[in-house]
Amino acid sequence: MMNKYKEIDDQYIAHCYARFPICIKSGQGAYVFDTEGKKYLDFTAGIGVNGLGYAYQPWVQAVQKQAANLAHISNLFYNEPVLELAQKLVKRTGMSRVFFQNSGAESNEGAIKVAHKYANDTYHGQRNEILTLVNSFHGRTMETLVATGQDVFHQKFDPFPTGFDYVVANSIESLEAKVNEHTEAIMMEMVQGEGGVNALDPAFVQKVQEICDAKDILLIIDEVQTGIGRTGTFFAYEQYGIHPDIVSFAKGIANGIPMGGVLLSEKVKDVINYGDHGSTFAGNPLAAAAANVVMDTMTPTFLEEVKEKGQLIKTSIEKMPHVKSVTGLGMMIGVELDGLDAKEVLAKCRDKGVLFLTAKTKIRMLPPLIMTTSEIQEGMKVLQSVLEEM
Ligand SMILES: Cc1ncc(COP(=O)(O)O)c(C=O)c1O
Repeated sequence: MMNKYKEIDDQYIAHCYARFPICIKSGQGAYVFDTEGKKYLDFTAGIGVNGLGYAYQPWVQAVQKQAANLAHISNLFYNEPVLELAQKLVKRTGMSRVFFQNSGAESNEGAIKVAHKYANDTYHGQRNEILTLVNSFHGRTMETLVATGQDVFHQKFDPFPTGFDYVVANSIESLEAKVNEHTEAIMMEMVQGEGGVNALDPAFVQKVQEICDAKDILLIIDEVQTGIGRTGTFFAYEQYGIHPDIVSFAKGIANGIPMGGVLLSEKVKDVINYGDHGSTFAGNPLAAAAANVVMDTMTPTFLEEVKEKGQLIKTSIEKMPHVKSVTGLGMMIGVELDGLDAKEVLAKCRDKGVLFLTAKTKIRMLPPLIMTTSEIQEGMKVLQSVLEEM
C-alpha cells in the first residue's frame, strides 16, 4: 500500500522532501491516524504548528463558520477577523503594530525589509548589514537562506543576496568582533530549533540587547518555531527580559492554516508605509479566524501547563538509557544521544505508534501543546523501551 503513495509522490511532486513511510489521513487531539487505520501519538505537531492538536473543536467551528461566510477577501478591504487578531497580538505583546504574512520565511523577509528600510531612512545607506547567529535557521527563500547561519544552506543557488554576517551563538567575544558601523540589525532565535534545540545563554542575550540599545541597532527575534506558547510563554523572548524591535512569527499562530506575521515596536511602527509591502493572502479572514481561536486559548493557565508538561518530558527523558543531554524550553525539546542514530530510534518508535522529529543528530519533540500528561507518559514509555532495546 505504501508503495502506491511513494510512487505517485516520486513521479508527480518535485523531490523536496524525504518523507516518513506513512500517509496520514486524520487527527484527533494529540493523535494522528494513517491510511491503514494505525494510530500514532504525535510529538511532531506538523513541525511545531498544531499547538491545539488536531480537530480542536473551537478551531474547527471557527474555521467552518468563516469558510462558509468569507474565506478570502483582498487587502483592499477591511475584514473583521484580522482587525480582531491584530488588536489581540498588539495588546498581548506590548508591540505597536503588526503586519501579516503566510509563512515563517516570508515573515523573516518582512522583518529584514523593515530593518533595511529603517537603516535607509535613518542612516542613508551607511548601515547595510544584518548579523545572525551561526547554526541559526531562518527559512528557505533566497534572503532567509543567507540569513541562516549554516554553510550547507549557502550552496547550489548562486547568486545569493549579500548583507549578512554571522556571530557565534553565546560568544560575546564573537558578537563584539562582528558588530561594526555598518550593522543595522541583529536577528536570532531564542532557542535554535533546526540547529539542534539550543537555548541561548541569558548573559549573551542581555549583551545583544545592551549593544542594540547603545548603538541603535535593531533587534529582530525570530519566533517562528519558539512562538505562540511553544516554550511556555507566548513568545520565548519574554523569558529573557528583552525588548525586541521586530518579532517574526508563523507556524502555530493559526494552528494549521498558513499564516505568519511581523510585530513592530514603537520605534519601527511607521517604517512600512502604504505601497511598501503587501501580499495577496496575508491576513486573510480564514487564517485570521483560526488564529483568533489560538490567541484566545493561550491563557496564563494554558502556558503554565506547557511549562509543567515540558518539565515532565525532560525529567522522564533524563533517566533513560543512552541519553547524554536534554535541551530546550517548554514543549520544545532536544535529546542528545550517546552515539545512537536518532533516525533509527525514530523508526523504532514509529513502529510502536509514537512519532518524533530530529534536529541535526538529536531527537526533537514539538508535541501539540494540548497533549495531556498521561499521553506524555505513554509516549515516554515507548521511547524508554526503544532506548532499552538498543
Ligand atoms: C526559526 C525558524 N524561522 C523560520 C522558519 C521558516 O518557516 P517556514 O517553513 O514557515 O517558511 C522556520 C522553519 O522551521 C524556523 O524554525
